[in-house]
Order: sequence, then structure tokens, then C-alpha cells
Amino acid sequence: MINQHQNLATVVNTTQGSYPVIVGRDVVDDLGLELNNIRLNGRAFLVADEVMFPNPIRRVQEALERGGYATHVLALEIGEVNKNLETVQIVYDWLADLRVERGDIIVAMGGGVTGDLVGFVAATWLRGIAVVHVPTSLAAMVDSSIGGKTGVNIPNGKNLIGAFHQPKLVLQDIGHLKSLPAREMSAGWAEAVKHGLILDANLLDTFERLAPQMKALEGDEPVAAIRRSVAIKAEIVSADEFETGDRRVLLNYGHTIGHAIEKVSGYGTYLHGEAVAIGMMAAAVISERLDMINNELLDRQRRVLESYDLPTSAIGLNIDEIIDATKSDKKSRGGTIRWVLLEGPGQATTRTDVPEEIVREAVQSIRA
Ligand SMILES: NC(=O)c1ccc[n+]([C@@H]2O[C@H](COP(=O)([O-])OP(=O)(O)OC[C@H]3O[C@@H](n4cnc5c(N)ncnc54)[C@H](O)[C@@H]3O)[C@@H](O)[C@H]2O)c1
Ligand SMILES: [Zn+2]
Repeated sequence: MINQHQNLATVVNTTQGSYPVIVGRDVVDDLGLELNNIRLNGRAFLVADEVMFPNPIRRVQEALERGGYATHVLALEIGEVNKNLETVQIVYDWLADLRVERGDIIVAMGGGVTGDLVGFVAATWLRGIAVVHVPTSLAAMVDSSIGGKTGVNIPNGKNLIGAFHQPKLVLQDIGHLKSLPAREMSAGWAEAVKHGLILDANLLDTFERLAPQMKALEGDEPVAAIRRSVAIKAEIVSADEFETGDRRVLLNYGHTIGHAIEKVSGYGTYLHGEAVAIGMMAAAVISERLDMINNELLDRQRRVLESYDLPTSAIGLNIDEIIDATKSDKKSRGGTIRWVLLEGPGQATTRTDVPEEIVREAVQSIRA
């Protein structure tokens, strides 16, 4: 059990309870014991991204069984294209066949798509049963597995159906990242670096100094940096669970233009983290034009992102299309865009008074 304390990254405090986030190597073998520690009973229903089949899934199953949990496994091909209600129905049918009860536990193992979809299933099955996240992509580790947002897409838009449903535990095994494609790793680093840029200058320094070690996942530093990045997300969620305050919105740094790039270039052209990297460059340019930061920080951000093999510009962007897309972003309220901008390294703030001319200049600056 010492192990658990050694690997505890943070505790997330929410109105649905507090939960630990454990980050380390080989921690997956302790999953059953960790569930014992937080006093979860019942059977375990593991829903996993098929990409983790067979060995990583079997390892999780064995860990659950060692903790005394009768375990059932459903491996599904889950991706952005089938992050929808049909796939939810497939999982519901499986739970119904196995007569899953209120006291049982759902374990979601996979990337952010799996976590969002399986989390939504857990939020709605019998009006909500316990869910545990075992994120396997870097983006899911540092971002989507923490905070309780769950959801699926409908033809009208992404993540339009969903619920807040906090997990009981988040268990992140760095070993799972070994099989993650390089591009997906980079996309995950974008969100991790973002946490440094908006709130933690030391973390930004670390990401800047140790990019090669980070990318190779060698030594203790990457584990420590992922823990810190996770803790920042957790701190924000704990302070502003429902995004009603001024805190959680800071996580949207780079996302206003990032979402617009994803939409205009057609979903899938850029990975989300790649679009966010380009969007962060646009946001930094806006910050610089408003005299909030100097040119040096702008260049520094570009170099750091490039050192994680992220794009910092996009080919063939139509400025009007991007501007239009920012206006219809889900996060804009009553037509006013709330820009997340930088005031310094590790210091973000929001502004609603950015002139469109400056936004145009910023979009121009990220055209390759
Ligand atoms: N809930 C939230 O707060 C929140 C926040 C950000 C993003 N999201 C959602 O997260 C999703 C994106 O998450 P993602 O980037 O993890 O996408 P993803 O789940 O599609 O995973 C990316 C790809 O990597 C594969 N994969 C995952 N783990 C792997 C591993 N260990 N080895 C090999 N392959 C692996 C997946 O099969 C997939 O092909 C989006 O649907 C987005 O809406 C949710
Ligand atoms: Zn994001």
C-alpha cells in the first residue's frame, strides 16, 4: 500500500466525492488492491479499447481478480467515428445481459474516446454507477480522464450529449504509453505543455529542458511531469467543477482557434492536440499584440511545441472561415468570445475585448 502513496499524483475534490489519481509504472497491477482501498465492492465490468487487446487487457483483468473482483470484459473498437449512441447501446446491451447492478463497477480502459463514452454509460446506467478510469493515451491521462466530463457525439456536433460523472479512481500506467503512436504522443504533450504555459512556469521549464527524456519516457522525470500536469488539471477541476467560475476556462488556452482549425480543416486532418498547438500560437500572438507578453515568450512557446514535434502553423487556412468558426464555438457565450491569453510563462487570464483585427492578424500569423 506504500506503493499507492508513492504514486499518488493528486486527489480531485468534487461535489460527487473525492478521488485519487495514481500515476506510475506498473501501477496497473495494483488496480484490484486500489479498489479495495477505496472500499468498492461488487463485480467489475471492464470495457476496453480493442487496441489494448490482448495483453494489457488481460493484465488489468488479472489485477482486478487478484483484488477479489469477479470480472467481465468487453473489448470494442472505439474511435471518434463511433463515439455515438449506437456504441453506447452496444455497451448497455452487454450490461443488461450480465444484469449489472448499482453496486457494480465499470472500468474504462483506453483513450479519451473510450473514457468519455464508457463514462457516459456509467453515468446513465441505472442512473449512475461507479466508474474507474484506466486511461491509455497521454491525452486521456493529462486531460480527459480527470474532471468527470463524459459524452458522445451526434450528427449535429461533437460531445453534445453527456453528463458530469466523476470517477472513483483514476489509474494511469505510464507503461501503456509504449504502444501509443508517436503522433498521438505529441498531441498529448500539447495538453501537458499547455498546463505549464497557463499555470506553472516550473513545469514549462521542465518540458523545455527535458524534451528528449520526456519523449523517450526515460527515467523519473516524465512520470513526475505527467503527475504535475495531472495535478494542475485536478486543481482546476476541484476549484471550478462545472466551469461556472473563471478557473476551468483557462484549460481552453489554444482551444478557440484550435477547435476552429479542426472544424474548418475537417475533423481528423489534425489531431486535437495538434490543432491546440497551432491555436496556442495564435493565442500567444494575440497576447503579444495586446502587449501582455513579449516576443521572447512567443518564440519560446513555439520552440517548446516544436521540440515535441507539434505543428505551429497550418497550410491553407482561410481566415474568414476560421473567424466564423470561432464565433460558433460552443464555449462562446452570447456571441462574445472569451479568449484565454497569456500574461507571462505559467500565467493565463481571460479577455473578452479582443478586437477582430488582432484576431485576424493572429490567424494570418499561423498560416504556413
Ligand atoms: N472528458 C473530457 O474532459 C475531455 C477532454 C479532452 C478531450 N476529450 C475527448 O477525448 C477524445 C480524444 O482522446 P484521445 O486523444 O485519447 O483519442 P482516442 O481515444 O481516439 O485515442 C487515440 C488513438 O490512440 C489509440 N490508443 C489509445 N491508447 C493506446 C495505446 N496505449 N497504445 C496504442 N494505441 C492507443 C486509440 O485506439 C486511438 O486510435 C475526444 O473524443 C475528446 O472529445 C474529453
Ligand atoms: Zn483539449
